[in-house]
Amino acid sequence: IRRIGLLTGGGDAPGLNAVIRAVVKTAVRQYGLTVIGFQNGFGGLIKNQAREMGENDVAGILPRGGTILGTTNRDNPFHYPVLKGGEMAFVDVSDRVFENISIHEVDALIVIGGDGSLSIARELHEKGLNVVGVPKTIDNDLSATDQTFGFDTALTTATEALDKLHTTAESHHRVMVLEVMGRYAGWIALAAGIAGGADVILIPEIPFDINKVIEKVNQRSASNKKFSIIVVAEGAKPQDGDVVVQRMVEGSFEPVRLGGIGNVVAKQIEDLTDKESRVTVLGHLQRGGSPTAFDRILATRYGVAAVNLIMDGKYGHMVSLQGIDITSVPLGNAVGELRKVPLDNHLVLTARQLGISFGV
Ligand code: F6P
Repeated sequence: IRRIGLLTGGGDAPGLNAVIRAVVKTAVRQYGLTVIGFQNGFGGLIKNQAREMGENDVAGILPRGGTILGTTNRDNPFHYPVLKGGEMAFVDVSDRVFENISIHEVDALIVIGGDGSLSIARELHEKGLNVVGVPKTIDNDLSATDQTFGFDTALTTATEALDKLHTTAESHHRVMVLEVMGRYAGWIALAAGIAGGADVILIPEIPFDINKVIEKVNQRSASNKKFSIIVVAEGAKPQDGDVVVQRMVEGSFEPVRLGGIGNVVAKQIEDLTDKESRVTVLGHLQRGGSPTAFDRILATRYGVAAVNLIMDGKYGHMVSLQGIDITSVPLGNAVGELRKVPLDNHLVLTARQLGISFGV
């Protein structure tokens, strides 16, 4: 192994730069390798946008949010959009990836990404590319690792927001609804709800009944707590299946990503109680900013471990946190099925014992 490639794919997450820095430092210092950074996710591999990265290129980036390599949710080489006769069609351009890999004489590629990017990494590996993966997503919903980097920072941001909402909720005797990210899984909502002292937590795994939410708000009022704090994951759904906020995504319905369910919950509370309610959609604030110390350490450990995986020839694997150890798992076991919150998860049980309502 002489030359390795590196890319960041999918939505960004705090800690991406920490991984990049750790990869470059380990590769250069420890093993004397050359690192080629591909820009803007798989787009850089398809369009041959690449540059060599040395230690100077990663100086000072450890605490910086975002990714110095750029990223995108688009540009899947196996499903690449092209205009054919005025119509949009999707074609397989993965051969271009192999051409560019060989132009740069890259022996192995590190893909830092979530489920989408790591699924592409797995397909490329099946087609013969030497690939290793690093698990990233603020949603913490990858099944084969105890934690993804980015989650702790998003959780901290959501918790700080709840602290701030508490004081204004209390002053105005209002119900404050905070909508956080989590399209498929409620990890951020659940953990932030506990850390930020929420009264109600609504997550995709537990479809809710708005009447139960209102019951909780009214109970608090009756016991002289004139305000309430509700955290809603963006993918939370009401029990009756009447998800008002849905949209068509590639032929099937999905909950809308932002600004949806939180507004619905706040509106229903205003309509059905005598309380004023306000909604805050935290949105991409959760993806930005400087990573927490926890995420910096996790991301750094992942970056070091990814280079070691390459040196061990363990291609087709993803680095993974299991307990306190960094190990690795085959990409095939790591992608395709997202890790939802199990109903007997210790955080769910803790929340229930505290009297936090899940709206059921
Ligand atoms: O990283 C996943 C996620 O945080 C989801 O929870 C959210 O729906 C999505 O990103 C929004 O991403 P974008 O605006 O980049 O499409």
